[in-house]
This record gives sequence, C-alpha cells and structure tokens, in this order.
Amino acid sequence: MKLDNIGWLSYIKPERLNQEHNMKPLENQIAIVTGASSGIGEATALALAEAGAKVALAARRKDRLGNVKKKIDGVGGEALLVQTDVSAREQVEVMVGQTKKKWGRVDILVNNAGVMLLSFMEKLKLDEWERMIDVNLKGTLYGIAAVLPIMREQKSGHIVNISSDADRKVFHGSAVYSATKAAVTLLSEGLRFELALEKMPIRVTSISAGAVTTELAKHITDKDIFEVFRTHPPIEFMKAADVAAAVLFAVMQPPHVDINNILVRPTEQAT
Ligand SMILES: NC(=O)c1ccc[n+]([C@@H]2O[C@H](COP(=O)([O-])OP(=O)(O)OC[C@H]3O[C@@H](n4cnc5c(N)ncnc54)[C@H](OP(=O)(O)O)[C@@H]3O)[C@@H](O)[C@H]2O)c1
Repeated sequence: MKLDNIGWLSYIKPERLNQEHNMKPLENQIAIVTGASSGIGEATALALAEAGAKVALAARRKDRLGNVKKKIDGVGGEALLVQTDVSAREQVEVMVGQTKKKWGRVDILVNNAGVMLLSFMEKLKLDEWERMIDVNLKGTLYGIAAVLPIMREQKSGHIVNISSDADRKVFHGSAVYSATKAAVTLLSEGLRFELALEKMPIRVTSISAGAVTTELAKHITDKDIFEVFRTHPPIEFMKAADVAAAVLFAVMQPPHVDINNILVRPTEQAT
C-alpha cells in the first residue's frame, strides 16, 4: 500500500516530519499491533511502519501475519511476527517480552484484536459472550498489563485501544459486544486518569469507530442478525485505512497532547 493511499500524511504538520534530519515521523519508535492479521490492525501496522516505526505483529493466523510482514518489508519497514492469542495472558506477556528483547523498548501498543459475535440474547450463546469478553476486554487488559511496567520505566509510551461507537449504544444483537466496548472505552479513560494524576507521561487513547469494511461480521453465527442487516439501507462504510489514519493522528501529537477518544464514523452512518 502506498503512503498516499493511507492518507495519514495529510494529518502531519510539516515540522513533525522532521525534514531537517530527513527522518520519518515515527522513526526509532517501537510499536505493537494486536489483531494485525487483517482489517484495521493490518492497516494500522502498515501505516505505523510507513511512518517509520518498527512494528510487532500479533494475532493467531501466522500465514496472514506473514503477508502483512511482506508488505511492510516491501515499503522498507521492519516487522516482527509473533503468533499470539490475546485471550491467553502468558502469550501476551511473551509477545511483549519478545518485542522488548528485539528492539529494547515499547513506545506504542495498539490493542486492536477483537471479535463482534452479534446475537440475540435469547439464543444464549454463552461461548460467544465469553469469547468477546476474553478477546475484547481481557485481551486489552493483558496488553496494558504487559506494557505498562516497560512504559513506566521508560517514562514514555502510548496505549491505543480500538473501541467502537458501540461503546455508547446498542444495536440488534450487540448487547454483549457493546458491553465489552463500553468497558474498553471506560478503562482507557480510567487508565488515562490515573496516569495523569501522577504526571506519568504515558498517553492513552480510545478510538470509537463506526462501520468499517473488514472481516469482522463474517464470524457471526446468529442467522437472524443477517436478516436484520438486510433491512438496513446501504451506506458507504469506512475503510480500515481510515481508522489507521485516526491512530496515526493520535500517536503523532506532541508529548504534552493526549487525544483521549476519537469518535469516527462513516459520513452516511446515521446512528
Ligand atoms: N469493522 C468495524 O466496523 C469495526 C468498528 C468499530 C470497531 N472495530 C474494532 O476493530 C478491531 C479490529 O476489527 P476489524 O474490523 O479489523 O475485524 P477483523 O478483520 O476481523 O480483525 C480482527 C482481528 O482480531 C484478531 N483476533 C481475533 N481474535 C483474536 C485472538 N484471540 N487473539 C489475537 N488476535 C485475535 C484477528 O486475528 P486472528 O484471527 O488471526 O487471530 C484479526 O486480526 C476490533 O476490536 C473491532 O471490534 C471494528
């Protein structure tokens, strides 16, 4: 993917490009992206790499991560592939440890891995409820727990949690998904609050995204949800790269600016 396709460059003020030293804006930054094997995570990993960051790619599908690594190699970036199930605490710890071991620090963590297994509650799909809690909420917490001591020691860092506009509303079948995303947005604010109280220069951002074209809905098993989808008038969704641009906007602010939350939705999305 070419720089212009991602569109992040338009967000950067010229002085932050560090043109004098001919450096990319995130050069020497070490980033981790969970759920980097597809969709928003893949686009974010590419955008961070194109901006100069070295990126650790974490997800379960190793082949797909390999494809992302190839794309990053292709634009002259550097990536580390770490097969990780974010719902397994030890695997997240190992993944963060490997990143620190390879590059010596962790500057940016994008907690993006997530599942949206929409279903009506009467179906009692408890396994799917638990999976959403395990991946969306616990996975995010495990990521925070693994990087926080490192960032505290560095006295710098930025944690970006990919939430959803479902953090403030429900739609058909979203009760548990919305609950997990509301939790992600609020825990981001809670962490930010505590770090600000102690003047610890670690930034926290949550991104509340509306509809994006990705694989996310493909895993829904409740067929009645698709019946509801069919009644929706079609709208133009955002692209994964649009959310990646929001992540870049947040991480490229000067150190004294913390973008706390970004609500970004398709122009045609009414609710
Ligand atoms: N698409 C939207 O409309 C939308 C809107 C708002 C927010 N979001 C959020 O954006 C994030 C990314 O979703 P997406 O839309 O890009 O969908 P996607 O293409 O399905 O990506 C989901 C990613 O999460 C990873 N993942 C799932 N379970 C995992 C696990 N146990 N361990 C590690 N990684 C896991 C997947 O990788 P593997 O399967 O390889 O593990 C994949 O890379 C999610 O948090 C989602 O809630 C999406």
